[in-house]
This record gives sequence, C-alpha cells and structure tokens, in this order.
Amino acid sequence: MMDNIIPQSFHIDKEERNKLNEHNSFVVWFTGLSGSGKSTLANLVEKGLFQTGIKTFPLDGDNMRSGINKDLKFSPEDREENLRRIAEISKLFVDAGIVVIASFISPREKDRELVKEIIGKENFMEVFVNTPLEICEKRDVKGLYKKARAGEIKNFTGIDAPYENPESPDLEIKTEEENLENAVKRIILHFEDKLKI
Ligand code: ADX
Repeated sequence: MMDNIIPQSFHIDKEERNKLNEHNSFVVWFTGLSGSGKSTLANLVEKGLFQTGIKTFPLDGDNMRSGINKDLKFSPEDREENLRRIAEISKLFVDAGIVVIASFISPREKDRELVKEIIGKENFMEVFVNTPLEICEKRDVKGLYKKARAGEIKNFTGIDAPYENPESPDLEIKTEEENLENAVKRIILHFEDKLKI
C-alpha cells in the first residue's frame, strides 16, 4: 500500500450494480498470437451478449496502445506494464457491473497470472485462441509478420519474442478446426451460467 492513500469506501457495491443489471460481471480474456483471430472472436462474442441485454465493453491491444498505453512498446517490461494497467482498468469495469471482453496477445504465463491476480481469479475467464504460427503468418492480416521477418519490427511475438501457451485455459479455440459461428456459440454457452446472479 502507498503511504497516505486511504481508499474511500462507497455505498453502492458491485453486487448491487450486478443486481440492477440482472447479471454478473467478469472478464473474458482472449489470449493468442497476433492474427490468431482473438479480436474477431471477441467482437462476435460481445455482439452476441449485447444482443441479449448484457452490459459489455471491449478492450483490445491496438486500441489501448494508441491511448492510455501509448508510452509503451514491446519489451518484456513494457508488455507487463501494458497488461498490468489493462488488468486494473478491467477490474474497474467489473466493479462497474460490465462484462469485459479483452483481447491481448498476453504472451507470458507470468503476466497472465498477474492479470488474474489483479482482477481476481473468480472474475478472470481465459480463452486461448490457439492458431498455429504458420497460419497466423500466412494470413498476415496486418502485414506485420512480413515486417518482422524482414527485421523491420523487433520483439515480434512468435518470431523473435516468445508466446507461452496457457497451461489451463477455461476454453481453447482452434480456429483452423472449428468454424467461427460454432466457436462463438461455444464461448457464449460456456459463460452463460456465470452470468446468472
Ligand atoms: S501484448 O503482448 O502486450 O499483450 P498487445 O495485445 O497489447 O500485446 O498488442 C498487440 C498488437 O500490437 C498486435 O496485434 C500488433 O498489431 C501490434 N504489434 C506491434 N508490434 C508488435 C510486436 N513487436 N509484437 C506483437 N505485436 C505487435
């Protein structure tokens, strides 16, 4: 704890906000390589939840990094700080009664552990978007793998920076084996009970 900082306690807590919204709030965290399909899945999952009246909000790498985290790059330390801030922000959203749909490469187990610790493990649901590097690289939607191979981008995840597969994700999606619609349905179904108060 920091010196001379005394958190105020508020009258309305998360439980009351959840009751008003008629659903629980938590974080669905998509992790996987760049181009694995995290954001595509996250978008569709959010749309599905939103259409049934769930209060949701998406957080994603490219957006956070062009705003609150624009001072950060891709060294291990900066990635950790990126994810730490996002975890704190996610926690605020969860306290506000919102289901956060987060998609970040979040390549290291220890950083994902930190995120989980900050958010609280009961509110952190991990979805591993397991698309092999060869496929992400072949798709190369943003053209970044090509640049990384040419040495124009350093510390690129999967090329010259590591990605550690999650050890025990809540769900694993193999995008080359399962169609998008199915995967989205499966994810929503998996978290449906958790939404119930
Ligand atoms: S994380 O590693 O800190 O979790 P984050 O999800 O925020 O990464 O950002 C990843 C996005 O930044 C990628 O989708 C890609 O568009 C872009 N990017 C730019 N440089 C890199 C890099 N060196 N490694 C990975 N992604 C990069």
